[in-house]
This record gives sequence, C-alpha cells and structure tokens, in this order.
Amino acid sequence: MNQGLSTWGWISLAVAWGAILGLTIYCFSRVLLAKKKKDAGLPEKGGRAHWGSRIGLILAMAGNAIGLGNFLRFPVKAAANGGGAFMIPYFCALLFLGIPLMWVEWTMGRHGGVHGHGSTPGMFSLLWKNPVAKYLGALGIALPFTIVVYYNFIESWTLGFAWFSGTGKYFGLTTRDAMGHFLRGFQGAEQNAFFSSWLPIILFFALTLAINYYFLRKGIAKGIEVLAKIGMPVLFVFGIVLAVRVLTLGHPASGVASVNEGMGFMWNPDFSQLGHATVWLVAAGQIFFTLSLGQGIINTYASYLREKDDVTLNGLSTSMTNEFAEVILGGTIAIPVAVAFFGVVETKLIAQEGAFNLGFQSLPVIFQRIPLGQIFGAMWFFLLFIAGITSSVAMTSPAIAFLEDEFKWKRSKAVNAVFAVLAACAVLVVAFFRFGFLDELDFWAGTFGLVVFATIEIILFSWVFGVKKGWEDMHQGADLKVPGVFKFVLRYVTPVYMLIVLGAWTYQEAIAKFLMKGEEKFRHPYLWGARAMFVGLILVTVLMVFLAWRRRKGEKETV
Ligand code: ALA
Repeated sequence: MNQGLSTWGWISLAVAWGAILGLTIYCFSRVLLAKKKKDAGLPEKGGRAHWGSRIGLILAMAGNAIGLGNFLRFPVKAAANGGGAFMIPYFCALLFLGIPLMWVEWTMGRHGGVHGHGSTPGMFSLLWKNPVAKYLGALGIALPFTIVVYYNFIESWTLGFAWFSGTGKYFGLTTRDAMGHFLRGFQGAEQNAFFSSWLPIILFFALTLAINYYFLRKGIAKGIEVLAKIGMPVLFVFGIVLAVRVLTLGHPASGVASVNEGMGFMWNPDFSQLGHATVWLVAAGQIFFTLSLGQGIINTYASYLREKDDVTLNGLSTSMTNEFAEVILGGTIAIPVAVAFFGVVETKLIAQEGAFNLGFQSLPVIFQRIPLGQIFGAMWFFLLFIAGITSSVAMTSPAIAFLEDEFKWKRSKAVNAVFAVLAACAVLVVAFFRFGFLDELDFWAGTFGLVVFATIEIILFSWVFGVKKGWEDMHQGADLKVPGVFKFVLRYVTPVYMLIVLGAWTYQEAIAKFLMKGEEKFRHPYLWGARAMFVGLILVTVLMVFLAWRRRKGEKETV
C-alpha cells in the first residue's frame, strides 16, 4: 500500500497546481495592468464606507475566503474521498458552482451597496420586488452570525496553541492520546492534570473576541483592509515556509515513511470513488465553505465597492488566491507530514476522526520530532489564527452592516450591539462544547444552511432577476469579459446543480441528522439547545428586518 506519487498522482498534481498557478498569475497580471477607474478615491454616494485600494479589497476578500477550511478541512476531505480523484468533483464544483456564485455574490453586493444596502435583506428586495424577499435575505445575516459564534471559539484554540507551541507547553506529550487530553483539557471538554481551570480558554477566547472587535470597530478601510494587508502576506510567507519544510523532509529519522508517500496518499487518484454521490456532495460542500459562499459575507464586502468597480476580475482573483492557499499550501502541509510520521494507515484514521484531530492533536506530536519544532508549531497555529480572523471579521460584518444601513446606527453602536449578542451566544458554545453543541451548529448553519442559502441566491439572481439583467450588471466596469457560455451556466447549470446538491444532502444527511441517528441520548437536550439557538437567531433577524422596513416605510422611502 505504501507508495509515493504514481504517474497518475503526478498528473493530478501537475494539472491542479498548473491550472491554479496559471490562473492566479493571469488574474494578478490583469489586475496590475488594468486602468485605474475614474471615480477611484471618490467618496461613495450616500456616505457608505468603501475600500481604500484595489489590492486591499482583493486581499480582504481573499482573507474572507481563506480560513481554517483551507488548511484543515480541505486536506482531510480530499484524502478521505479519493485523493487526486477528488479533484475532479472539486474542480467541477469550482467551475460550475463556486466561480459563478462568486460573481453573483459580488454583483449582488455591489448593486446593494450602491442602493444603500450592505446585507442580503436589502439586496434580495432589490432583485425581487416581493415582500418575502427581504425575509429570505435575513438568512444572510443569521447564518454567518451563527457560524461566527463557534468559529471564533475555534480561532481562540489556534491562538492558544500558537502560544503553547512557542513556549513549548505541550512539549513532552509525545503521543496523540496525550495531546488529545491536553486539547480537551484546554477546551474545557475534560478535567485533567494539564489544565486545572477554564481560565486559559476563557482568556484566549476573550483575547480573540477583543482582536476581532478592534478591527471591526475601526471600519472597512482602516480596520478590515489593514488587517488583510498585514495578515495575508504573513499567512502566505508562513504557508510557503511550512510547505517547503514538509516537502524537504525526505524520510525523517523518527518517521515511518517518506513525504513522497504522503504526497502519494494525498494525490494518487482512486477513480472508484467517483461513482459515490457522497464524494460529489463533499466536494461541493467544500467549495461553498472555502470560498465563503452562501453566507452573505462576500455580498457584504462587495457592498463597499463603488458603482463602476470591477467585479468579474476581482471575483476570479479572489477565488484563485483562495485556491492557491487551499490546494497548493493546504494540500501540502498537514496530510503529507502526517503520513511521514504516522504512516498511511494511521493517517487514514486521523483523517476520519476529523480536521481538529489532525490540526491540534497529530501535528503537535510531529512538531516535537523535528528540529526547531517550537518555531514551526507557532508558525502553523499563527497561520491558522490569521486565516481564521480574516474570515471571522467577514462573518460578523453582515449583522453590523444591517444595523448601520437599515437602522442608521453609528458603526460603534452597531459593533457594540453585535458583540454583546455574540458574547452571550458564545458562552453557550463554550459551556456545552463537550456535548456536541458546536458540531450541531456547524451542521445546520455551516454546512446545510450554506447550501440552502446559495440555492435561494442563484434562483433569485438567475430566474427572478434574470440572467440578462444580471449579466449586464456584472459587466458594468468589468476588467474581464466573462465567456458567454457562463450565461448558460448561470441560467441552468448552477441552479440545477444546486438543487441536486440540496436535494441529495437533505435526503442523505439532513434527515438522519435531524432525527439524531446514532447520537447518545444524554446529548439530545444540548443538541436541541443548539437548534433552538440557531432558530432563535433566525427569528430575531426576521423581526429586525420587519422593524427596519416598517421604519423605512414610516420615513416614506421606497425600496
Ligand atoms: N471560507 C472560510 C474558511 O475556509 C470560512 O474557513
């Protein structure tokens, strides 16, 4: 079974890397060559905030997309679902779902922003003159808000582990089992000798929230854009250093295999997997999650564009930057190194146990076996932290934009209000983490919810608003002419693909999940609690939308 990259493995790797690198270089050279827009630098109509520079915007959008999903979720999903063969459904989903939806969300967002709406209730009601539209749009606030409640918690683990790596706190715990206890002790999921209280996790969580708060409070150009301009280069430098370190490991003395075998495990295609519907669903799910689609957050960032700002080239550049981080860096670090030190059989088990096990349990064991492991460990977890925070500020943004735009609140007031609710919800996530509260939210909001919302979006855009009008809107100020075949893709392929994914997902996963199949009885109340919180957040958002529109009517404004 142990083998390095096969001929097909090399071919998969070369095609995937070549396509991504080629398109990334193409996009950025076009961005650099593009003429500056005449209205660049002018204040936005209606006094809305806007991005300070094009490169800042692309980095912020890339930061929005590049997250924990790129470095933890992707390698685990790819390795568990056919290796190089997984790239076939993955690239199909990228081409027919990801990139078209990216353009749709950018277009919708810019259109909304020009009309004073930075969140999807307003954006949807511009596309569909029906009172229901704004309530459907409420999901584009409630979903990312629910996700960010637990995403921030995971982000705080990365910050904690960056500290523990740098200070060598877990050094000496040389087995995965011991690291597992360390991790669970830190998370508050288990009482053990490593952590005698919840104080460390509370401190790191509070620090994470405070950093998020700081950048969000500073606003778009001075907060989020600055974070991306500093964070993204650091992330790429750390990512490249770690990837090169892994690729040059050879057959480590304390390991059981060579990195080449790790790359083989990651890339040698198992074509038999392509016959399984699940593999296609997993690939589609990964594309939504990694590109931050179906959550209303790309829309909100795009609402800070100017009327004539390009969306086609920028949208593609964002997608390709994300793919570079995911396939080239994310695919090279965690899984290949795990194979080198634990072997193929154990890495398979690790991958089945999930992304957190790989990232927080297995890799720390490896850092203890390589020279300068403390530094590489700190780099890895800090990279994850940057990936996380540039996404979490995005997920918090729709709620803030909604309060600012629809209730005319000052940014400071909106940010304070959103963080108050966020902190209250987060207490539940931390307190009940060990009973599966986080996983439950992740399924309904972070997996199923995205697919539902993206389906609504594409139907509204392509069938209600209409591809003809949408296409014109998309090409306003465009630096890239999208090939005409994408009209067909937007009208038929993406919506039908989405409906199939949604149907299959509901049938295969959601029903069993809803019935709590295989869940231990004592967890049920907590899982219901998580659902109640999610539904509660949706209902509160719907109520707020109702109040905002009543207020607007009172002011005799028409939408
Ligand atoms: N797109 C973000 C990620 O990959 C949410 O983590």
